[in-house]
Amino acid sequence: MKLWGGRFTKNTDKLMDDFNSSIHFDNRMYRQDILGSAAHVTMLGKCGIIPEDEAQLIRKTLFEILEDIENGKIEFEVCAEDIHMNIESILISRIGDVGKKLHTGRSRNDQVALDLRMYLKDEVKAIKSMLKELLNVLINIAENNLDTIMPGYTHLQKAQPTTLAHYMMAYFQMFRRDIERLDDCYKRIDIMPLGSGALAGTTYPLDRKMVADELGFSKITENSIDAVSDRDFVIELASCLSLIMMHLSRFSEEIILWCSHEFSFIELDDAYSTGSSIMPQKKNPDVAELVRGKTGRVYGSLISLLTMMKGIPLAYNKDMQEDKEAIFNAVDTVKLCLPVFTKMIETAKTNKENLYNAARGGFTNATDLADYLVKKGIPFRDSHEITGRMVAYCIENNKSLEEMSLEEFKTFSPNIEEDVYSAISLETCVNERKVPGGPSKELVKASIESGRCFLNSL
Ligand code: ARG
Repeated sequence: MKLWGGRFTKNTDKLMDDFNSSIHFDNRMYRQDILGSAAHVTMLGKCGIIPEDEAQLIRKTLFEILEDIENGKIEFEVCAEDIHMNIESILISRIGDVGKKLHTGRSRNDQVALDLRMYLKDEVKAIKSMLKELLNVLINIAENNLDTIMPGYTHLQKAQPTTLAHYMMAYFQMFRRDIERLDDCYKRIDIMPLGSGALAGTTYPLDRKMVADELGFSKITENSIDAVSDRDFVIELASCLSLIMMHLSRFSEEIILWCSHEFSFIELDDAYSTGSSIMPQKKNPDVAELVRGKTGRVYGSLISLLTMMKGIPLAYNKDMQEDKEAIFNAVDTVKLCLPVFTKMIETAKTNKENLYNAARGGFTNATDLADYLVKKGIPFRDSHEITGRMVAYCIENNKSLEEMSLEEFKTFSPNIEEDVYSAISLETCVNERKVPGGPSKELVKASIESGRCFLNSL
């Protein structure tokens, strides 16, 4: 018999039960459901809405059920529909009529909103600490590579030299913003909806603040219709998770390129690579490829959620049951990717010599040569043109800019002196870029410092 069976004369069809039931995916919120119910019933007792001793019996039994679930002693039932009604049915089967008082002043609509908020609060914390771990690893790599010169690219063409430290700190900034976005999103998840009832609150004198305090929420929702009918906090989280995956995916793409034979900038540890079933020489970056590949799932969740919500009138609609698989999948994917990605980059070896040699090719110091001419009094547009001609000359003669003799330089501009060689050395190119945000060693050290402060503040 359904908990809502009173007005029905027939049981639901098995097809209907299977279709309607969400227990196979919302069962993961059993803890939140029980803690939420325990807080609710305690408040019912304290406010004199049900007798205090009954409230205590319900609370005690709920915690026994929790223990039994954790010890694998309970099997949920599809015909009880969802986690909320499964737990309530078990409660009633254990303590009879008293158990039937739990749902006083509550609807599954505010109950499910509560459970999901509680569940996601925990997940946000878990993901934040994984991101923190990644940031730690990035900062350590940066610290060990302050002098590791490498080429920076635009359009995947060699552009200007930088250092691996500067590069890693670029990713640090992205994942730092991801943490900050999660913090901001958390504020909007951390609002307690119970007491909103089905949509229009309740006539019982509930103490909503008491429930919020027991469950560790900072605020209570302000409008009962809104509280049961929006899932913007779920969508916002899916969007934060999508951005995390987008960053991880770009980084993965670089890792894949960097460990190709053509680049050979890094080598992945054997523990985080795979071989080929046919080609004995292969060492494949599967972790990075899977992370890149899994990004689509998280974007998919975001789009599913946005689409699921876009046409439903206020307040609760059953469409909203679809929110859970989408956000669970996004959360699971991010939690799966972050630790293994972090380990993969932590254990990778950098090939400093190849990075340096790659920075030497491709005329990455051409901008610095043009800037040198500017310092000798030539306007930038002219110096750009002159340097362009020197690059063409070098390509034709198969040499790099710093391999030109002073005589050769002077045929392009008489203003060029012996000091050109130090001006266009890769070390100068990097370390003279002292404008805030740039790659000079001092600046990157300072950014590592402030990155550490940020991590310590978490
Ligand atoms: N399983 C439902 C969900 O996930 C719980 C809320 C159901 N409420 C209702 N009035 N049918 O959304």
